[in-house]
Amino acid sequence: MAQEDTFKKIVSHCKEYGFVFPSSDIYDGLAAVYDYGQNGVELKNNIKQYWWQSMVLLHSNIVGIDSSIFMHPTIWKASGHVDAFNDPLIDNRDSKKRYRADVLIEDQLGKYEEKMDKEIAKAAKKFGDSFDEAQFRATNPRVLEYQRKYDELHARFANAMETSNLEELKQIILDEGIVDPISGTKNWTDVRQFNLMFSTEMGASADSSSTIYLRPETAQGIFVNFLNVQKTGRMKLPFGIAQIGKAFRNEIVARQFVFRMREFEQMEMQFFCQPGTEMEWFNYWKQYRLAWHQALGMGNENYRYHDHEKLAHYANAATDIEFRMPFGFKEVEGIHSRTDFDLSQHEKYSGRQIKYFDPERNENYTPYVVETSIGVDRMFLSVMCHSYIEEQLENGSSRIVLSLPEPLAPVKCAVLPLVNKDGLPEKAQEIVDDLKFHFNTTIEAKDSIGKRYRRQDAIGTPFCVTVDGDTLTDNTVTLRYRDSMKQERVPIAKLREIIEDRVSITSLLKKLDVKE
Ligand code: GAP
Repeated sequence: MAQEDTFKKIVSHCKEYGFVFPSSDIYDGLAAVYDYGQNGVELKNNIKQYWWQSMVLLHSNIVGIDSSIFMHPTIWKASGHVDAFNDPLIDNRDSKKRYRADVLIEDQLGKYEEKMDKEIAKAAKKFGDSFDEAQFRATNPRVLEYQRKYDELHARFANAMETSNLEELKQIILDEGIVDPISGTKNWTDVRQFNLMFSTEMGASADSSSTIYLRPETAQGIFVNFLNVQKTGRMKLPFGIAQIGKAFRNEIVARQFVFRMREFEQMEMQFFCQPGTEMEWFNYWKQYRLAWHQALGMGNENYRYHDHEKLAHYANAATDIEFRMPFGFKEVEGIHSRTDFDLSQHEKYSGRQIKYFDPERNENYTPYVVETSIGVDRMFLSVMCHSYIEEQLENGSSRIVLSLPEPLAPVKCAVLPLVNKDGLPEKAQEIVDDLKFHFNTTIEAKDSIGKRYRRQDAIGTPFCVTVDGDTLTDNTVTLRYRDSMKQERVPIAKLREIIEDRVSITSLLKKLDVKE
């Protein structure tokens, strides 16, 4: 099945099973804005809980905050967002559609990658176990040619972005023969800049002094609270401040479902450290964050780092963690060494001294910052994409199973009375009433048992417990495992013990190696 078809199926699965709905659905939706349904919100909350605990619970030197979305407008001047938070836009005169010039070029890069992947997949199939991918990449003429084109385009693109050279971006689009996917033509306008921040007015007057912005990142709420937290929490360097919250960007290209939204959620942590130690911390956070992803068991080969060669003027290192989505490897998280840029800028614009007094060195200085920034929605999407499986079964039938990492599953255990009478629903309810204190447990009595299993598979419930006539006499139930569909008879009294460890966030946290 083409990757595009798989992705479409995942999007409709999300709607059909209460994970994600288009916002304002009965009014035909609002572009690039989505609502999370009854199962989506549970999965999203589990992701957030996993992140929060891995940061705040496991690191005694990291604390959390919850800052407001509206902030003083000068913050966005200081951070550079008013002047430089722009996307390069281009219009196609025939379709009248607007695109991000950088995204059109990124898609072109993706096409070269796809071509290489196809050649590799073909060769891997042909040569079987003896296939050596590294050698094939280094010697196959077609792969080498695609790689050369990729490298050339990548270098030219990075240079144009870094220098904000809009004419060059347009020239790349023309030289690469990129056509509008709708009109199929190359009738492009010039490229121009577009600021991504949403603005609104605060209070009754509507002059420009009352213009405020919806935050485009949560990080600035952390920087402007640095002194508050450091002083009230008596924090000593190195220490971190973590935050989860909504961010807003007027994205021009609203595509790929929850991958690029206009209202989305970030989980960000700013780690303040002594100047000169930032690379050590950058490497720690790079490794720790990748381990966080890998602990979910979604295949180490599906992640890769993308180190930034060209850095923003204030950064001295930056990397993305990318995940293999159905539409290619894409950024899910960024780790940035931001030097003392943000704190210094806020010191300059606010007129307040934002320094740390180091008692050991007996001096004041501006701390350096390493940031980890991950989008909750992108994380959600990577989990959904990886977990969605259409399985052909041995008996000739098929099923759709969401093979979610068990601790992230919205519902951990579904209790199913075999028939909806003879005291079975009451017995099932008794089991739910016991287990619900420990993990998310639900009861489902409607439809045949087979249909109920399929429904639970489709929402990713790792355990189903079937209550039948024997249960009433011997207090045993049938426990069914989602992925293997294996069934075994177990005493009710053992259910908690079997399930709890596997579905707890703690089981993930224990896989992480923490340095403080
Ligand atoms: N404070 C740094 C910062 O905001 P970013 O790379 O612009 O860096 C960080 O964003 C993360 O936020 C991204 O890696 C991505 O996961 C998520 N993100 C950014 N824009 C998004 C959007 N329009 N929709 C969904 N997630 C987005």
